[in-house]
Amino acid sequence: VIELAPSILSADFARLADGLQILEQGGADLVHVDVMDGHFVPNLTIGPPVVAALRRTTELPLDCHLMIERPDAWIEAFANAGAARLTIQVEAATHLDRTIGAIRDAGMAPGVALNPATPLASLEEILPRLHHVLVMTVNPGFSGQAFIPYVVDKLRRLAELAADRHPELVIQLDGGVSSENIAKLVEAGGRSFVAGNAVFGAPDPVAAIRQLRAAAESAL
Ligand code: DX5
Ligand code: ZN
Repeated sequence: VIELAPSILSADFARLADGLQILEQGGADLVHVDVMDGHFVPNLTIGPPVVAALRRTTELPLDCHLMIERPDAWIEAFANAGAARLTIQVEAATHLDRTIGAIRDAGMAPGVALNPATPLASLEEILPRLHHVLVMTVNPGFSGQAFIPYVVDKLRRLAELAADRHPELVIQLDGGVSSENIAKLVEAGGRSFVAGNAVFGAPDPVAAIRQLRAAAESAL
């Protein structure tokens, strides 16, 4: 089954409620929230107070992607703000096992994100303890960047590893996903898709969500 998680980062920040309504009308499964700290990535975006406001405004589960240093310091704040899923970048983790345990203990589904150049090997040991792995298909920091094609091979190898060790693992793709490339990503093993520009940059964002789902499901 395909999951669509449009990124609220590409919505109009002065009209987030309208952005959420677009996601609901288009039939999105999750709201992807890109949290950036100006240190791990060269951009500053959303923090726990905005996540709490989103929580009060939609029933859709909030899928929070932390592109921040010292993620451990923020787990409780995101749990209290109402995040359903929490993804941390493996490059920012110093004690990954402890961090994943803390996310789970806080009641959220834990996931790990890998930058395009980060090898899969960093996840081999922890894989069975994860709810999801987010494979970055752009360098994190901004929406609207071009998809990096060489990551598809890593996605294939992750799907093979998961089939062997953790068949329930949700494999998520993030960055430059569009209705042009989503079918290829489903074929390679992706099941959960983040999209910013492909949704909010489209003339009709509601139709764009439906188009992404149709293109993804055509490859199942
Ligand atoms: C990139 C973020 C992505 C991004 C996706 O740093 O993690 O979620 O906003 O935007 P698009 O789909 O425009 O690449
Ligand atoms: Zn993201």
